[in-house]
Amino acid sequence: MRKNILITGASSGLGEGMAREFAAKGCNLALCARRLQPMLELKAELEAAHPNISVYIRELDVCNYPQVFEVFKAFKEDMGSLDRVIVNAGMGKGASLGTGYFEANRQTAETNFVGALAQCEAALEIMRAQNSGHLVTVSSMSALRGSARALNVYAASKAGLRNMTEGIRADMMNTPIKVSCILPGFILTPINEGMKKAPMRVDLASGCKSLVKAIEKEPAEAKVPAWPWVAVGLAMKIFPLSIVSKMT
Ligand SMILES: NC(=O)c1ccc[n+]([C@@H]2O[C@H](COP(=O)([O-])OP(=O)(O)OC[C@H]3O[C@@H](n4cnc5c(N)ncnc54)[C@H](OP(=O)(O)O)[C@@H]3O)[C@@H](O)[C@H]2O)c1
Repeated sequence: MRKNILITGASSGLGEGMAREFAAKGCNLALCARRLQPMLELKAELEAAHPNISVYIRELDVCNYPQVFEVFKAFKEDMGSLDRVIVNAGMGKGASLGTGYFEANRQTAETNFVGALAQCEAALEIMRAQNSGHLVTVSSMSALRGSARALNVYAASKAGLRNMTEGIRADMMNTPIKVSCILPGFILTPINEGMKKAPMRVDLASGCKSLVKAIEKEPAEAKVPAWPWVAVGLAMKIFPLSIVSKMT
């Protein structure tokens, strides 16, 4: 069992939900995000419910690149080893290109791709030194095709992350370091609660159960929940853009 798990973006949504699931399985947790207060509350809740685990928390902005390396190293010192790192922090602001929203689009691209790159670099420095570990990136079903409007840059950043994760997996082949890319479908969190269309969305608790179950199998890639998103993924690949762009 992977005992010591680092999760970024743990102050909300999927990060917080996965922390609850892993805590119930007896894992020690290293949690980080920009907002400390929700993580203080989560740490108190999890350590009270599971007295056998330790929960470490730190403030981290994944776009502060030196801080990403410092925080990951500090968590490694706290826990002795990082057995699994889940690169989960992400955001979804943005709008159609050329409509005056460069700042929101740039921030989404930077957080979801360059921020994830920094997290993968920091995690892999530690895992290479340990000669062990499981690196997990949280991409999205939207990585499979280009998306219009608010999801354009978001989908592109997640496609970049998916591709980079596959490259890392190629690098780590025949080593003890495992690499997985997770493509969630819609799971209800603050990132999508205001969306007009979020087809086949599931609630946070069951979504996070499915995520953790998928992660623990350590697959190369998983669409989560598998039903209906494996089938949707096949359809997304073959449907013309005019249909795919109406799905969200
Ligand atoms: N929910 C879904 O349906 C869905 C589907 C596909 C993929 N995803 C992906 O799943 C991941 C988690 O999203 P979510 O749905 O749980 O959304 P969420 O509830 O909005 O959570 C996003 C998390 O990322 C953190 N974060 C954002 N920017 C950050 C930054 N610059 N530095 C550090 N942490 C940052 C936030 O914490 P702070 O604000 O405290 O920093 C928060 O904890 C994202 O990568 C998202 O793209 C979600």
